[in-house]
Amino acid sequence: MAADRVLVWGTGNVYYANCQLLDYLKKQGVLKIVALVTKDRNAEIKDGCPVISKDEIHDYEWDIIVVAALGEMAESIQRDIRQLGIGADRVISIWDYAKKHAGTDTEYYRQTVARQIDVLKQILSASDEQVGDFDWMCARIKEYGIFPFRKQGEDILYTQYGMMQVVEEFAGLCCYISKLNIQTAIEIGVNAGKSSYIMCALLSRHNHGLKYTCVDIYDVMDSFDMYHAVLPSLEKQIPTTSEDYAGAGYDFVFIDADHSYDASIMDWQNVGKFANKVTCFHDIYAHEYDSLNGGIVRTWKEVMELTKNKKHKVFSSYPDQWMGIGVVEH
Ligand SMILES: C[S@@+](CC[C@H](N)C(=O)[O-])C[C@H]1O[C@@H](n2cnc3c(N)ncnc32)[C@H](O)[C@@H]1O
Repeated sequence: MAADRVLVWGTGNVYYANCQLLDYLKKQGVLKIVALVTKDRNAEIKDGCPVISKDEIHDYEWDIIVVAALGEMAESIQRDIRQLGIGADRVISIWDYAKKHAGTDTEYYRQTVARQIDVLKQILSASDEQVGDFDWMCARIKEYGIFPFRKQGEDILYTQYGMMQVVEEFAGLCCYISKLNIQTAIEIGVNAGKSSYIMCALLSRHNHGLKYTCVDIYDVMDSFDMYHAVLPSLEKQIPTTSEDYAGAGYDFVFIDADHSYDASIMDWQNVGKFANKVTCFHDIYAHEYDSLNGGIVRTWKEVMELTKNKKHKVFSSYPDQWMGIGVVEH
């Protein structure tokens, strides 16, 4: 099959975060990037491709436009594309393009899962010094992979099968929890399970009887059986919500489900406040949920107030701005 002649529209964060995948697909002969289209054309050539403006698109021969942008930026590009009279059948988002060519039946997926399972095995057999070492942990997380939603560094595997985490935040949390003696753990909102697998590996290193309960309303856990084979502590309880565990006392509680204030405060009321050792909240600075009655930002502030007699820890690379993991020590 001939390689797709592709115009990549967008050269910002989304483009950068997907560069590795585009490169991989280029090497596999899936695509050839004809040009990069950008509004702010400040270079002639970038990553070996011509950089062009939207007015030059018709001067090139191409098969498909891949939109490398999110939200309002993506909408504005789609408007420009319609104005140029280009049909929707010749346009695809970078996420859909990645899904199409790096889906779960591809070699790319098999290699990614194998790499992640290798990282989990490294964690399971690591020394206490290694798992407590921030740089060692950062290196494992970079090798495991980060979902390509923001460029965080050069040496990171960006893959749609990675974790939605900021490397340093999650590494900080991992080093911290690796020192806790946890027997029972519950994560409310596991999604693909990519963070759960790492946290389960860390917590089960010495505690072979550990149960790591994975809670969600939808089962989208990635290749659960394959990861479960190396992490028998994983226990999938889907569909359930925190209500099903109301009053249960887990040593470790990780809350990362519905990010509205009403739902996340209920997760705290149902299980978070009953934790024996720690309760973690993901996204404590995620202001994108503020419109949901204050969102998770409001919940974290309220929880800190409700637990002002306890110790708190925060792992954040963007304090008060984005992401962030908050911990209550019980
Ligand atoms: C942000 S994702 C979780 C990400 C995951 N913890 C990680 O670190 O990769 C949020 C998940 O919460 C789930 N969810 C939404 N509402 C929920 C609820 N009321 N109870 C449990 N899970 C819920 C969604 O289906 C989604 O998979």
